[in-house]
Amino acid sequence: MDGLVTNTQARLLSRSLRRISENGAPLARSFYAELFSAHPEVRPMFHSDLSTQYAKFEDMLVVLVADVLNPGVILRPLQDLAKRHVEYGVTREMYPIVGDIMMRTLRTLDAAPLTGDELEAWDVLLGRVNAFLMDETLNHTA
Ligand code: HEM
Repeated sequence: MDGLVTNTQARLLSRSLRRISENGAPLARSFYAELFSAHPEVRPMFHSDLSTQYAKFEDMLVVLVADVLNPGVILRPLQDLAKRHVEYGVTREMYPIVGDIMMRTLRTLDAAPLTGDELEAWDVLLGRVNAFLMDETLNHTA
């Protein structure tokens, strides 16, 4: 498999993620707030302390963006992530919903507004990652 995105998109992803972090934009907090407000039915699936969850989610984004051009490095962690998500009770149908919420969050991050091409790069990345996770979900569902 080639990189998940083009070289240009990889630069746009790391540039925007760096700006989000430098500006202290609350990406994970806003994302989960949006998710639980639009889909309260998924809230009971989360048992961990939410600030721990925010940190794990942001760490995963950093890893993804850092290695987005090296699928050999990220595919294994993504396979493991998909397997754990099956154990959490996550179904394939939930991935596009979460992808939409993530894009909505990125479009409305006032503390670190993203450009149109940065948003497009995120859309492509999330689409590729979701497609991969959804395929992997099939491998772990009886
Ligand atoms: C781009 C897709 C996604 C990414 C990158 C992602 C990332 C993560 C990460 C890093 C964790 C921390 C624990 C771990 O590593 O296993 C986690 C946990 C979790 N995620 Fe996701 N996730 C995604 C999609 C989803 C979807 C679609 C759902 C459906 C509601 C979901 C629900 C959960 C739940 C229930 C937990 C466990 C929380 C707990 O233990 O309290 N995730 N996710």
